[in-house]
Amino acid sequence: MNRSCKKNIFLKYIVLAVSCICFSIIPVWAQIHIIPQPLHLTAQKGNFILTSKAIIGVDQQSEAVGTYLQNYLTQYYKLNLKLKVYPHVPTTVAIKLVSNNSKGAQGAYTLSVAPGSVNISGNGAGVFYGVQSLIELLPASIIKPLKITACKIADEPRFQWRGLSLDVCRHFFTVDEVKKYIDIMAHYKLNVLHWHLTDDEGWRIQIDKYPRLTEVGAKVALYAKEGKFRKLDNLIDGGNDGFYTKAEIRDVIKYAQDRFVTILPEIEMPGHSEAAIFAYPELGCQDSTGAKHRVRMLDPSEHTFNFLEDVLTEVIGLFPNQYIHIGGDEAEMIDWLKSPTAVTLMKKEGLKDEKGVQSYFIKRIEKFLISKNKKLVGWDEILQGGLAESATVMSWQGEAGGIAAAKMHHHVVMTPLPYMYFDAPQANEELEPIGWNPPVTWQMVYNYEPQSSQLTPAEAAYILGAQGNIWTEKIPNAPHLEYMVYPRALAIAELSWSTKENKDIDRFDYKMKQQYGLFKLWDLNARLPDIVGVDHIATNKEQFKTTLKYPLLGARLRYTLDGKMPDDKIQSVPFPVTINVPLRESLTLKTYTTWTLNSQHIMQTANIRRININAAKENITNLKPGLSYKLIKTKEINYAKLDTITPAITAVINTANPMVLPVTDGDITWVKMNGFIKIDQEGDYEFTSGFELSPALFIDNEPLMIKDKNTYVEPQKAILHLKKDIYEFSGYYSADDANSKQTLFQLKTADGKLLDPQTYLFHL
Ligand code: ACM
Repeated sequence: MNRSCKKNIFLKYIVLAVSCICFSIIPVWAQIHIIPQPLHLTAQKGNFILTSKAIIGVDQQSEAVGTYLQNYLTQYYKLNLKLKVYPHVPTTVAIKLVSNNSKGAQGAYTLSVAPGSVNISGNGAGVFYGVQSLIELLPASIIKPLKITACKIADEPRFQWRGLSLDVCRHFFTVDEVKKYIDIMAHYKLNVLHWHLTDDEGWRIQIDKYPRLTEVGAKVALYAKEGKFRKLDNLIDGGNDGFYTKAEIRDVIKYAQDRFVTILPEIEMPGHSEAAIFAYPELGCQDSTGAKHRVRMLDPSEHTFNFLEDVLTEVIGLFPNQYIHIGGDEAEMIDWLKSPTAVTLMKKEGLKDEKGVQSYFIKRIEKFLISKNKKLVGWDEILQGGLAESATVMSWQGEAGGIAAAKMHHHVVMTPLPYMYFDAPQANEELEPIGWNPPVTWQMVYNYEPQSSQLTPAEAAYILGAQGNIWTEKIPNAPHLEYMVYPRALAIAELSWSTKENKDIDRFDYKMKQQYGLFKLWDLNARLPDIVGVDHIATNKEQFKTTLKYPLLGARLRYTLDGKMPDDKIQSVPFPVTINVPLRESLTLKTYTTWTLNSQHIMQTANIRRININAAKENITNLKPGLSYKLIKTKEINYAKLDTITPAITAVINTANPMVLPVTDGDITWVKMNGFIKIDQEGDYEFTSGFELSPALFIDNEPLMIKDKNTYVEPQKAILHLKKDIYEFSGYYSADDANSKQTLFQLKTADGKLLDPQTYLFHL
């Protein structure tokens, strides 16, 4: 068997593996796993069989998209379909792409797949998005016949801004790598690439009037090697050289336009400007002795403003986008207090402090951009000292800046830490490549809601959408970049395209795992999924038994129970794997998962902690339904210190199923619960809680799970053998807006039956 044939068979297996879902009625999403979830989707009977005989018929407006589809099918399926352009596409054509000028949201489309035909109709980007949904319906296997499940879709985006950033300064990425980044974005209907082109570590865009910006400013590795001062110690490997010529930038812009991706260029100011200052030292901030005391801050001189206007003029000449991002974050404004230029400026313009200088700086650049018919975008620091009149704010230091800006009727893109930061590890940081903390799981990304509940509907309308950010200090190459961005970017795609009501995390989880066949087809190095169930467990059982399953066929497991991290030197076994060992004391399960179709390995660890629960309370009478709870408002993050704080409310918790926290008003709110769990039938039970909640839960004062606020912890659960009895139960939760919709905790029987809290929670 030749290698490519072997590969194809594996691809078929993957699809089969993740499709083997045990439902008596198979849900639509088990067959049609489009990400982002379409607004309206119904499965129909039958399939469309795609062969090279099918003709793609397009109207003139859809010709470019038709060519895109034709090329896609050739590249990935070796199918060479004819493309025909018609004034009116006849119904006899197998695959019809038709532009309409309907008034729906930009990007709206309909797609219908029937046994004999595929019809896509849309406005603007709509036909392209219809084609992307069709691409997702294609099998990831290129083994023929190519069956496409019949369905009807009517779809449109929730937000107009569905972004991803790319930092090419800390590490440079080639034109081909940027194009692939755009390709994958487009497949998931992401439509803004925020291209971070200048920073301390590198200036990456050709500017004719200032050639040293790239001759010097783009040569990170060279200057680091020569020992000249550049602040490169945060780069994992000293960085790499490179910049884009204007011809290359135009080529990338055209490539993105063909995929309905807008490029937002970012030229950083007044901070993060070391590369520019290294090339042209006179731009840098001088102190009163005339010495350069820092090398990252631009001096607010006329010379600097002339320089920036020259640079922006050339940037505007390249990018047709209406927005220009001017950075504005993390400026070391304190430097200005020593700069004679800034001090003189403050006196002349009546600026109160260094924040006033920042505001003056940004407003002056805004005026220039407006004179060129462009809109300014900046990080939320541009709010300091007074926001420029028409600025759009990118809220990154949490949501506060974005909320404030929306209340002032400014447009906002929500990209808050930690949810939207993909340079954070995706799981336990000790087992992942180095990144900024804390870890951000795809679930955290998925559950993020860009329109804060603190905004009125009118204010919420100023939220243009959401964006995932990636900074590449620790990301030296494209495969690593893909590992960090995917699959998390799929969560951004769905939360920014699909309506709130149309989100479903379990369905998304399933659909996401279905994408790995496509990832293989596209050669995308997305991080492999974790094994579900390698959770930290508290248990009073004497035997530890678990079966580890994996959603991708061809995956193999190595594991240890002795605390040593497994590696590829030990024998691997195929999934599923049942572990069944006596549990005399606590043990640690460590896993090392590989998949046949890429070179990654994913490591996980779980502590299996033996606890003793024996104090039953059978004599207690007068139990009343529900848990008693106290609501404590404080910035304290340690649950153990809460007992001295007077609670805001004391009441009985709502025991509706599922249990969720009382509504919060944006502050951290602690809930302290007390009561009893009444078990009517002896048996094994499982406790779990919302993944992002930070509970400390105790039965009979034994800790079941403890997760600290602001500290990432892997999933935890408790598996307990409980007698027919009454057990003391207590717990603490901290909640904020982001997690207040999550289930507090659940109690299930060993066979997975969810128990109604009203039947087992009581207080005195
Ligand atoms: C940022 O992450 N400094 C915008």
